[in-house]
Amino acid sequence: MKYKPYHAPLYEALLHYQESGNRSFHVPGHKNGQAYRSLMNPENRKQHGSSDVIPTAAFLDMMQMDVTEITGTDDLHHPEGVILGAQQLAADCFGAEESFFLVGGSTAGNLAMLLTVCDEPQSIVLVQRNVHKSVIHGLMLAGARAVFLEPHVDPSSGLAVMPSAETVEAAVQAYPEAKGVLVTLPNYYGMGDDLKPIADICHAAGMPLLVDEAHGAHYGQHPELPASALSCGADGVVQSTHKMLSAFTMGAMLHIQGPLLNRSLLRQRLAMVQSSSPSYLVMASLDLARRLLHVQGADTFTAGLAAVDAFKRGLAELPRFQLLQPVQALQQEPPAGAEPAAGGNKAADASGRPTAPPAAAMPSAAGYTAQDPFKVVIYDGAGVLSGYGLQQQLEAYGCVPEMSDERYVVLLFSLGSTRSDAEHLLQALEHISQANENELRQGLNEPSAQAAKKAVHYISTWNNLQDASVEPFSEPIVFSLQPLSEKDTAEVELEDCAGYRSAEMIIPYPPGIPLLYAGERISPAAVKRIQLLRDEGSRFHGAADDTLRSLKIIKEGQK
Ligand SMILES: Cc1ncc(COP(=O)(O)O)c(C=O)c1O
Repeated sequence: MKYKPYHAPLYEALLHYQESGNRSFHVPGHKNGQAYRSLMNPENRKQHGSSDVIPTAAFLDMMQMDVTEITGTDDLHHPEGVILGAQQLAADCFGAEESFFLVGGSTAGNLAMLLTVCDEPQSIVLVQRNVHKSVIHGLMLAGARAVFLEPHVDPSSGLAVMPSAETVEAAVQAYPEAKGVLVTLPNYYGMGDDLKPIADICHAAGMPLLVDEAHGAHYGQHPELPASALSCGADGVVQSTHKMLSAFTMGAMLHIQGPLLNRSLLRQRLAMVQSSSPSYLVMASLDLARRLLHVQGADTFTAGLAAVDAFKRGLAELPRFQLLQPVQALQQEPPAGAEPAAGGNKAADASGRPTAPPAAAMPSAAGYTAQDPFKVVIYDGAGVLSGYGLQQQLEAYGCVPEMSDERYVVLLFSLGSTRSDAEHLLQALEHISQANENELRQGLNEPSAQAAKKAVHYISTWNNLQDASVEPFSEPIVFSLQPLSEKDTAEVELEDCAGYRSAEMIIPYPPGIPLLYAGERISPAAVKRIQLLRDEGSRFHGAADDTLRSLKIIKEGQK
């Protein structure tokens, strides 16, 4: 490799392009922003209000680097120059044998990986049930058959993490012809587990392990961060560099190692799912994100981690708000002044909400062992504010969370976060806590019938996947691009659905994990689970009949 870590060959090529002052007789048509810059001369524009059509100087500056494949800027789909150099540096930085820049996010990487391993129609792949839609779309494009693996659910939070090694082993044994295993790690909440046993199982069976590490581009780059999927032995890994590192939105990478993936086929698949005119700004931002990490090493995260630490210390002084963290972490080092974790906190008891046994009482049931320190997952321990409600209130104080659900709010810190961000957030939580005092007192003194009902719903829904009747993996489910037409489907009373194939996705929410995929055969156990959840008042996404009295099924003989 002719470049050193401190080089950013692609970014430097763009600087060179900008400084060259060459006349453009090529795309893009904005001609380095000239199309707008020429309007700065009043003679070239209409008199009234037309200055509004000129972007800001900062945007125009970016346009000066928005180049395409010309001499010296290389070609993403056939890299031989600066893009090849930038990708080789990325492979070195992230510990891959080969890295590919993605300009369509991890979405493009998931599509390309599945289209590579599914090298013939009806290929079987073993796929974690709770995956991002890009994985489902990849299965559809590939015309694959998916055997869905049930994820393990962390008992204290009710959140799904990933399939256990036992589940993967059992599925690999049952489907030795499978073309690969795909898991997602970490989940949206930053929760994860040891991937190495799963990699070992896959490799013993000669199957590639594909990991959607969209939320873990920073993993393995600092002692306080969990291990990366590559270091655990994964064969193909997608990372959204734009999510947890410093690339522009849509900037992501696909990393490969080992002999189990057909790399020339992968290149062809990447060319299928990515533009032939990839954004050089996005690609250069990947080069810069890599350079920052490569040059600064673990120090890249010092300021961001200090900001998270400051926030967590402050949070421990606010007993109203609780932090989600793995059981081990709780057992090892209870944060000073903090209440016990989810499932065992006093405030939750006081609100009348049924709670699981204290986390420390169930070490063997630990649902996950690794937590991304940058994903701070909090909840209202008093049970007054839902995650959505807390998010709304935080936004009113100018703090915009990453996401929320019925209970939790995910606050995403990164290498770019500052102590001042942490302080602002703490102040907001303090205000919210004070402003909600009255509501809290009412909630504590008279747990209403409604609150009690909500509590039952809450527990039963979240325990959804811990039902002993749940099979650890599904039968193969056919995915295709052929839309289901109305005439091929029928509405059948839920009680009579067992044995039919579902024509719709049924997603109890939370936790938002599809209980049925379209095309999946409906088992008696699935009917029982849907009935139970329905009768307890759970909400569902995906069902045409939202009362869940009936399901849409595929008419026999049609599919
Ligand atoms: C688990 C997971 N995988 C893949 C993706 C897609 O990533 P991108 O937005 O980079 O295409 C997301 C997006 O949120 C995700 O959460």
